[in-house]
Amino acid sequence: TVYPDSEQASVAVAQDIAGLIRQRAAEGRSCILGLATGSTPTRLYEELVRLHQQEGLSFQNVITFNLDEYFPMAPDSLQSYVRFMHEYLFDHVDIPVANVHIPDGTVPVEEVAGFCRRYEEQIREAGGIDLQILGIGRTGHIGFNEPGSGAASRTRLITLDHITRTDAASDFYGEENVPRRAITMGVGTILEAHEIVLLAWGEGKAAVIKRMVEGDMTDSVPATYLQKHPNVRVVLDEAAGAEL
Ligand code: GLP
Repeated sequence: TVYPDSEQASVAVAQDIAGLIRQRAAEGRSCILGLATGSTPTRLYEELVRLHQQEGLSFQNVITFNLDEYFPMAPDSLQSYVRFMHEYLFDHVDIPVANVHIPDGTVPVEEVAGFCRRYEEQIREAGGIDLQILGIGRTGHIGFNEPGSGAASRTRLITLDHITRTDAASDFYGEENVPRRAITMGVGTILEAHEIVLLAWGEGKAAVIKRMVEGDMTDSVPATYLQKHPNVRVVLDEAAGAEL
């Protein structure tokens, strides 16, 4: 779906998420959301906060799993995704603390593989992800699944691509300060979500969106594996959709 601008797109996606949360609550069930960070979903999260504060949308039945986190990363660092999620969403809604899951950037490196296995188990025990929100990186990454990530990849430690570190440089006051690694859900993990909504705004994303939607499926552009999924929606503004 191409919207005139990211504002209208974000509000529409927030309405869809609110509808799912309310539907699950009416059925007495949890709603399991997979969440993304980055500049793309910030307006979406603001709108969810508004729906909570002004229209009584409750997050009591919501369980969340974030896609990724830099490694290493202290949760209280300016650039941590823990901090990001609290700032944009969790601190402003009534989600129970125990329902929030974000990969832990403080785990000792030799324990990361075990941590990643448990993260996947927690997703399974919750019943799997109902709705996964995704952004996309210029390298074609989803989460931090950089080029080379296969369709069957699982939650793991990954080395960040040079382009990704360049794009993150301003957040870290210089590329040399950007962590070299991250923990990310795998492409295979993401593809197990029942429904996926990928968001992209701006002309900077137009080329990678074209490759993702119209290109062949390949490890070189991991987002192309979304073509395999039966229930994906790509939500764009006009600039991001300009090359389709
Ligand atoms: C980071 C995140 C991704 C996100 C991407 C795009 O690399 N790990 O999940 O999709 O950036 O970021 P932005 O939304 O700021 O363009």
